[in-house]
Amino acid sequence: MMPFTLLIMILIAFPVSSNGGKWGYNGPNGEHHWPKHFPYCGGAFQSPVNFQPELLRYDPNLFAIQLQNYNLSSREQLTLSNNGHSVQLSLPSYMQLTGLPHRYSAAQLHFHWGTQNVQAGSEHTVNGKQFAAEMHVVHFNSGKYPNISMAVDKSDGLAVLGVFIEVGEFNPAFEKFFKYVNGIKYRDQKVQVPAFNIRELLPSRLDEYYRYDGSLTTPPCFPSVLWTVFRQPVTISLRQYLALATALYSSHAQEVAPMPMLGNYRKPQLMDNRVVLVSFQDGDFTWMSWGSLISIVMASGLGLLLFIAFCWCLLRKRSEADQEKFGADGFHPSERQEKISRV
Ligand SMILES: *[C@@H]1O[C@H](CO)[C@@H](O)[C@H](O)[C@H]1NC(C)=O
Ligand SMILES: *[C@@H]1O[C@H](CO)[C@@H](O)[C@H](O)[C@H]1NC(C)=O
Repeated sequence: MMPFTLLIMILIAFPVSSNGGKWGYNGPNGEHHWPKHFPYCGGAFQSPVNFQPELLRYDPNLFAIQLQNYNLSSREQLTLSNNGHSVQLSLPSYMQLTGLPHRYSAAQLHFHWGTQNVQAGSEHTVNGKQFAAEMHVVHFNSGKYPNISMAVDKSDGLAVLGVFIEVGEFNPAFEKFFKYVNGIKYRDQKVQVPAFNIRELLPSRLDEYYRYDGSLTTPPCFPSVLWTVFRQPVTISLRQYLALATALYSSHAQEVAPMPMLGNYRKPQLMDNRVVLVSFQDGDFTWMSWGSLISIVMASGLGLLLFIAFCWCLLRKRSEADQEKFGADGFHPSERQEKISRV
């Protein structure tokens, strides 16, 4: 009887402990295996996507993103945590986005990044270019739902701000919580950090962005996100980038084999007939692919050559006509004059 109950216990425990709900970014729990346990991950309207020039449509009705109560008081405390997939900072729901079809309240922000050596870990890409990292500021539709758990699986449930991060100049705003990451090296660890002005984490230009309907980029991949990805990146220093890429583990402190937390980004997904609306329209070459730019340069070059050839032909014709006009003996008037004077 004992071995039988043990077997039952193992059978019950097995799918819960080793498979169900467990996901990561490589190996047997990597993104290709997500749809087995999270069917939406294999479904439509998934994120991230690559912002290819051919898919972009300028929309003059996309105005600058409006933030409310983003300047938090340092008397307030925010929870910085390691959830085993990323670093997450909790945000109060009185922080809001306005100017969108609904009112959205903030819930948390988190990051996706590359590895120590390969500083390419953004989820969205711009014409194939991957940035070093990406920040997502997650909001839920508080005009319609009481909390994020009720909103997360609804088609109009979430609005996420995406920010591209490049390695460059030191960023003092990010340091306000990056300096605490050594306190959350392992999964499920948390620390309280003093709040600050969250606006400083965003790029200066809030009027230039990509907008499309997509999903959570992590399981369960619900297609519930109105995406706004800012065009302008922010920078963090190499030392700050390495704080993300080398200090954190996706495993618990007591686990014997620590699993470094890196390369925690999902690859671009199919567009499924979606277009990406853009709020900006300007003369730089993001509007044209290099292919069409090269064709334009070549066509202009060819046009110039044809024009030169045409002028050359015209001049030649004219000089031939001149020769015919000035005497059948083939001399120009001045030459004829010379001849006459010599005679
Ligand atoms: C943010 O709030 C603090 C006081 O809490 C104030 O000193 C600071 O000027 C504010 N910053 C901005 C950009 O409004
Ligand atoms: C969210 O709201 C629903 C409905 O009011 C409630 O049942 C649930 O407990 C709430 N969840 C959280 C995490 O607050």
